[in-house]
Amino acid sequence: MIRPRRLRSTPAMRRLVRETHLHPGALIQPLFVKEGLAEPHPIPSLPGMVQHTTESLLAAVRAAVDAGVGGVMLFGIPAERDPEGSAALDPDGVLNTALRAVRAEVGDELVVMADLCLDEFTSHGHCGVLNERGAVANDATLEIYAAMGVELARAGAHVVGPSGMMDGQVAAIRRALDRAGHVDVAILAYAAKYASAFYGPFRDAVDSCLRGDRRTYQMDPANRREARREVELDIAEGADIVMVKPALSYLDVVADVAATSPVPVAAYQVSGEYAMVEAAAANGWIEREAAIAESLVSIRRAGADMILTYWATEVAEGLRG
Ligand code: PBG
Repeated sequence: MIRPRRLRSTPAMRRLVRETHLHPGALIQPLFVKEGLAEPHPIPSLPGMVQHTTESLLAAVRAAVDAGVGGVMLFGIPAERDPEGSAALDPDGVLNTALRAVRAEVGDELVVMADLCLDEFTSHGHCGVLNERGAVANDATLEIYAAMGVELARAGAHVVGPSGMMDGQVAAIRRALDRAGHVDVAILAYAAKYASAFYGPFRDAVDSCLRGDRRTYQMDPANRREARREVELDIAEGADIVMVKPALSYLDVVADVAATSPVPVAAYQVSGEYAMVEAAAANGWIEREAAIAESLVSIRRAGADMILTYWATEVAEGLRG
């Protein structure tokens, strides 16, 4: 008889035939840094995660390095917000200051990435500036993204991650980076980013001011084919890495992109995915470590080369033993 169970008979046998592996170098740790904090501030809906001071941020980045994590993705929360998000362009703003400090601390020991978006910096909480009708103005936003990209590069980002889903954002940022001489700074494009309910805890994490939603720029969760278009455009515009976000509810999209992309594919296991597992585990309803490992290996199995996950450092430490 043909017996597939033969290959499941012992742990050693299962290890031998395992198709998908997690490794620390493929994990990216998102981190939040807030201006003017005296102490790290816990984020209730992301248990275990905090808004960092510059000092605690450096400790978190050091821990990521020591665990062998591949990269960190930094998000900045400014003290003041305005309709244009001008703090994003301030060389001494929270994100740029944090980048300088992080690069001074860890150099090239891991890949330092920065979120390139305005939603943390605008008083209305949208990812771009608004026109006179209150709609998000695509092309006016591109100019600000281009300038922000240059500031992030100047502050030391190895990679910038445009996450605003404006049309043409990758091309605009690439052009600006090249003109300013930052030809080696890579773009990780949030290429297929959906308007998801699973971003809820993130909005607490960045003290989001958003009322309403982002459905005029983020993608409709019902659409699969459209993700291919977004990814193709971003690659044509010069994206070095393309990302699908969220991850678990969009594994079909991850698989589609992985099947055709000529550049590395990332997936973002977002805040709501993390919070669901943490909440269920806190209630004793699922086994925490097993659920984390299963979710991450599933994202890899679907085809993601790298994963942004709030568990990156913890999981990397576990993999190192
Ligand atoms: C926007 C941004 C968001 C996330 C990453 N970048 C939020 C949004 O689009 O509303 C969400 C990440 C998460 O939920 O973990 N700059």
